[in-house]
Amino acid sequence: MKALVLSGGKGTRLRPITHTGAKQLVPVANRPILSYVIDNIINVGIKEIGIIISPETGEEIKTAIGDGSSSGVNITYITQSEPKGLAHTVVVAREFLDDEPFVMYLGDNLLGCGIDGFIDRFTETDSDAAILLKPVDNPSSFGIAEVSKDGRILSLEEKPKKPKSNLALVGVYIFSPEIHRAIDAIKPSPRGELEITDAIQVLVSEGRPVQSHMVETWWLDTGKKDDLLEANTTVLDDWIKRDLSGEIDEASQITGRVNIAKGAVIVNSVLRGPIVVGRDAVIKDSFIGPFTSVGPATKVNKSVIEHCVILEGAEIDHVKRMEDSLIGRGAKVKKCHDKHEALRLLIGDDSVVEI
Ligand code: TTP
Repeated sequence: MKALVLSGGKGTRLRPITHTGAKQLVPVANRPILSYVIDNIINVGIKEIGIIISPETGEEIKTAIGDGSSSGVNITYITQSEPKGLAHTVVVAREFLDDEPFVMYLGDNLLGCGIDGFIDRFTETDSDAAILLKPVDNPSSFGIAEVSKDGRILSLEEKPKKPKSNLALVGVYIFSPEIHRAIDAIKPSPRGELEITDAIQVLVSEGRPVQSHMVETWWLDTGKKDDLLEANTTVLDDWIKRDLSGEIDEASQITGRVNIAKGAVIVNSVLRGPIVVGRDAVIKDSFIGPFTSVGPATKVNKSVIEHCVILEGAEIDHVKRMEDSLIGRGAKVKKCHDKHEALRLLIGDDSVVEI
C-alpha cells in the first residue's frame, strides 16, 4: 500500500498566516501539522509516500519534510499546477500510485489516533474505498455521508446546502485502484473542482464495497484560526510531556506539563502547563498560561499570555494580557511607551485585530 498526502491547495481560510507559507506547515505544539500526518503514515508501515505540492509552497514543504530517508521511507513530491480538487490530485499522481491501493491523507488534518485499525478493516473486507466519519455541528461546511442503519454508505455530498446527516468525511481515505476509473467518470463540480466525494459516489452507485468507520477520538481540520487554536490545545493536552531542557533561573516557577526546548531561556517568569517553548526562545518577567505554544527564537517580555500560538521569531513586549491569539512569524506586539496614546499598526493583508 502507498500513501498520497495532499499538501497543495490555497489555504485561504488561514490568511494572513498562509500568505507567506504553506498551511500544512503551520505548527501545532511547535511541530508542523504535516509532520503528524507523515508520522501516522510511517507508523502503519507504509514506505512509499507521495506528497502533492503546489508551485507556490512546494519548495518550503520539501525543505521541511525532506526525502524520508532518515525515517526509512521514500518520499516523492508531485506538483499539482493548480488546486483543481481532491480527486484531481489522484489524477496528477496516477503514475506514482500505479495499480496499488493507497491511503489519501489531507495534509492539514490532525487525528487523535493512528490509522492502523482503519487500514486493517479495509484489507480484511476487500473494499474499493473506505472513509472515516465523524459527527459535526456544521455539516454544510464538509463532505457529508448518508449512512444506512447497518453502516452502508447511501450517498455522499460535498458541502451540501441541505445536509442529509451530520456525518462529515474526515480527511483520510483508502482506495483500491478502482478509484481511478471512478474519477475518469466524473466532471468538475459547480465550484470547478473534481470532488473525491463524487468519485466515491460513483463506486457507491455501482454497488461496489465502500466501508465507513466512525472516528472515536478527536479530529481537527485546521482550516481557520480557531480550529488551529483548538488543535494546539488538544495536542498540548494529550501529547505534551514535561521536559525542562532549557535554562530556567531560580526566580521562575514552572508548573505542570511544560516542555522547554534546549537553548530556551526563562527568567523570573511563571509558566503553567500545558505549554511548549521552542529552542532559543527568551521569556522574561512574564506569565504564560495553559495551552500556549511559544515558537522557536521568540521573545516574550513583561507580558501575560494564555491560550495562544506564537510563531517563530515573534516578539511580545509589555502586553498586559493576550488570549486566544495566533501571532505570525516575526510579528511584533508591543506597548508604546510615549505619552501620546495611539495605536500604531503595520498589519498584513487579511489580518484581524481586536481591541
Ligand atoms: P482544502 O482545505 O479543501 O482546500 P485549501 O487548502 O485550498 O484551503 P482553503 O479552503 O483554506 O482555501 O484542502 C484540504 C487539503 O488538501 C489541504 O491540505 C490542501 C490540499 N489540496 C490539494 O493538495 N490540492 C487541491 O486541489 C485541493 C483542493 C486541496
